[in-house]
Amino acid sequence: MPKLSPADAAQPVVSPLTSAAMFLVLTIEDGGEDAVREVVPDLSAYARAVGFGYPEGGLACVTGFGSAAWDRLFGGPRPAELHPFVALDGPRHSAPATPGDILLHLRAQQLDLCYDFAEHVLRRLGGAVKVVDEVHGFRYHDNRDLLGFVDGTENPEGVEAVEAALVDAERDPDFVGGSYVIVQKYTHDMAAWRALSDLEQGLIIGRTKIDNIELPDAVKPKTSHVALNTVVGPDGEEQDILRHNMAFGSFREGEAGTYFIGYCATPEVTEQMLRNMFLGDEEGNQDRILDFSTAVTGGLFFVPAKSFLDDPPPAPGEDSPAPDASPSDSPAADPAPPARPRPTDGSLGLGSLKRS
Ligand code: HEM
Repeated sequence: MPKLSPADAAQPVVSPLTSAAMFLVLTIEDGGEDAVREVVPDLSAYARAVGFGYPEGGLACVTGFGSAAWDRLFGGPRPAELHPFVALDGPRHSAPATPGDILLHLRAQQLDLCYDFAEHVLRRLGGAVKVVDEVHGFRYHDNRDLLGFVDGTENPEGVEAVEAALVDAERDPDFVGGSYVIVQKYTHDMAAWRALSDLEQGLIIGRTKIDNIELPDAVKPKTSHVALNTVVGPDGEEQDILRHNMAFGSFREGEAGTYFIGYCATPEVTEQMLRNMFLGDEEGNQDRILDFSTAVTGGLFFVPAKSFLDDPPPAPGEDSPAPDASPSDSPAADPAPPARPRPTDGSLGLGSLKRS
């Protein structure tokens, strides 16, 4: 089979902005691994089933796995840079690491498509998983966050988005088209934020509020969000991540926030941004946005290529037979595929939804 480019191999990481999103973080219960492995190859079929009748709905489903979950679910090579989210304790603000084995990032123009996909998948998974975080995000006006600023303007696009977000063969030949995604749920202190003028808010973000223009370097404070998130590599080139942040809110909970989600070909770039924000840059400048926004969750997941989900490697400890081994020249090898567990979802077990 010809080798796919990162863009062709990837799940829909690089895909257009939508009006709605659902972020589901799951943990896998003890003993739930087999049920999860059973459902993973059917994820793309569920997305087709739900989204096919609504081409304008733009349903995109991205699935990622945390570091510990990866080792529970999959044998074989692991993504080179996959590790747990690194919690940060800065002088004034903290970024906690919170539980999470699986991330489902669902996007569409209409929330019902995200809901239907999640409903099918979670029903199949049954008691094998626990939903530990759930955020329904919405597009707020012209892609603003609830602080009132346009969010996503400087996102890379096209080939630059692919290069920023997706693993290529040079970086990790076993995981071409994969992506490292970091998520954090932030809640805003809206009363304190609203007490500031637009000008003061703009100095905290690093852009003007109404017309969304980046402040000139001479004016932009070093403690601004944009200044601290402009990160350059050793070659002096700016390093990008691909963000799909969404606004969320609940009046009952008294909560208004931004769900931060950043994809990158390496977790290092996003982690550098987080260190700048929370711990401070080399001059000790910390991000003033944190005086008004509190990180309440934090997780790091690896989003493998589509083909990995469709045909995951054997479970840990279930080694696959060597490619040229046959039962006759390898009497010790058991050529039978591992038995599929019985359905745990109460379904009739009519078999896989996978395309044949
Ligand atoms: C830029 C909002 C968290 C990385 C921006 C901008 C806004 C914004 C309004 C300017 C427009 C643009 O998108 O280019 C927020 C809010 C956050 C948040 C409300 C949560 C409270 C984060 C986090 C990271 C991050 C946690 C990284 C770990 C960036 C980057 C830029 C940016 C890389 C573009 C900088 C540039 O090159 O101009 N953000 N952000 N943001 N943000 Fe955030």
